[in-house]
Amino acid sequence: MKVLIAYYSMYGHIRRMAEAVREGAGSVSGADVRVCRVPETLPEEVLEKMGALETQQAQAQVPVCTLEDLVGADAIIFGTPTRFGNMCGQMRQFLDATGDLWAKGALVGKVGSVFTSSATQHGGQESTILSFHITLLHQGMIIVGLPYTFTGQTRIDEITGGSPYGASTIAGDDGKRMPSENELDAARFQGRHVAEITGKLLR
Ligand SMILES: Cc1cc2nc3c(=O)[nH]c(=O)nc-3n(C[C@H](O)[C@H](O)[C@H](O)COP(=O)(O)O)c2cc1C
Repeated sequence: MKVLIAYYSMYGHIRRMAEAVREGAGSVSGADVRVCRVPETLPEEVLEKMGALETQQAQAQVPVCTLEDLVGADAIIFGTPTRFGNMCGQMRQFLDATGDLWAKGALVGKVGSVFTSSATQHGGQESTILSFHITLLHQGMIIVGLPYTFTGQTRIDEITGGSPYGASTIAGDDGKRMPSENELDAARFQGRHVAEITGKLLR
């Protein structure tokens, strides 16, 4: 069973969550888990102005996703930061290159799942994941979220991301808050859950 984690992360929050998703998916017997980052679309001078050069360079060794990676996977777990309540442009551009795959039905029946990050608590985590699902449905994918059996999403004793739609983290206005243990647990749960369901579908 091949599980692909395809993410974009400008400042490292989604990258950290992707590692936790990988741990979760990798804990399922028979899962072959790969992580890749979608291609950057911003020029270096813009990344520099956005203060993102260092975190981009730190990800240089992560392989860049290709369309073949999507075709070869049984499940694809997408990670994207929120941009105005939607997925980021880098992810959008990557997905907009899948028209040929759509025409061939190449992703039909694969499992798809989404996790996200936003600066603020109510800045669009749910809308980012749910609007992402529209693209996955057009591709004929089977959507898997984060069920309430991950009880950490009901916590109100601390600020936390996580919803039935998928794992998420809150980066803070200055981007300094990194994913909490609860948010990383959610990401691990989602990775494991996706791999378990994919395993059942492949039987
Ligand atoms: C152009 C732009 C738009 C953004 N839009 C939102 C938004 O709508 N809501 C929000 O809470 N955060 C927003 N953010 C903050 C990002 O979501 C935040 O930096 C990101 O989740 C951090 O994840 P990363 O470290 O993986 O890049 C925006 C950031 C940028 C640069």
